[in-house]
Amino acid sequence: MKNLTLRKPTAEDGAAVHRLIAACPPLDTNSAYCNLIQCTHFANTSVIAEVAGQPVGFISGHRVPDRPNTLFVWQVAVGEQGRGQGLAGRMLSHIVARPANEWIEQLETTVTEDNAASWALFEGFARRRGAGLSTQVLFDREAHFEGAHASEILARIGPLARADLRAVAH
Ligand SMILES: CC(C)(COP(=O)(O)OP(=O)(O)OC[C@H]1O[C@@H](n2cnc3c(N)ncnc32)[C@H](O)[C@@H]1OP(=O)(O)O)[C@@H](O)C(=O)NCCC(=O)NCCS
Repeated sequence: MKNLTLRKPTAEDGAAVHRLIAACPPLDTNSAYCNLIQCTHFANTSVIAEVAGQPVGFISGHRVPDRPNTLFVWQVAVGEQGRGQGLAGRMLSHIVARPANEWIEQLETTVTEDNAASWALFEGFARRRGAGLSTQVLFDREAHFEGAHASEILARIGPLARADLRAVAH
C-alpha cells in the first residue's frame, strides 16, 4: 500500500475515526466522545492508518486493568477500499511492536461467529507468531445482549515473545 503511515491517534483524529467506524459494519458505532477517549487515553494501544493523509484504518485497544500483560483489541476497522491487503494485520503488529508496549504477552479480542475476515485476521496473527489461540463465549446473546446481538466469542492469543513481535511485520 503506497504512502501508508501508521501512528498513534490524537484527539484531532476523533471525528474521522467516528466516521470510519460508521462506514465499517458490522462494527457498533460508539459516541464521538468515546472515540476521543480512545484516541487520547488509549492512544498507546491504538493505531490509525493513513494513505496520503486520509484515514483508512483504525484499531482501538487497551491494557486489561487486572491483567497487565494482556492487550485487549476492541475494534478493528479497515475502510472498504483498503481491505484484503494485509492492513489490519500490519496495524495489529504495529501496536504490539511499540517499545512502550513490551508488557504485551497475551492478546485478547472478541469476534462474532460469522465474521470470517476477523477470524482470519486473528488466526493469521497467532499462526505467524507460533502462538496458541483459544476461544470461549465471553458475552452471550441471551445472557448479556437480551437477544439483540450475536454472542461475542473471546479469542485469547499467546504467549507472545518479544523477539517474534519485532520480527513479524503483519
Ligand atoms: C476485518 C477487517 C478489519 C480485515 O481487514 P483487512 O485489512 O482486509 O485484513 P487483512 O488484509 O489483514 O487480512 C487478514 C486475514 O483475513 C483474510 N480475509 C480478509 N477478508 C476476508 C473475508 N472477507 N473473508 C474471509 N477472510 C478474509 C485475509 O486473507 C487474511 O488472512 P491470511 O492472513 O490467512 O491471508 C476488515 O474486513 C473490516 O474492517 N471489516 C469490517 C469491520 C469488522 O468486522 N472488524 C472486525 C471486528 S472487530
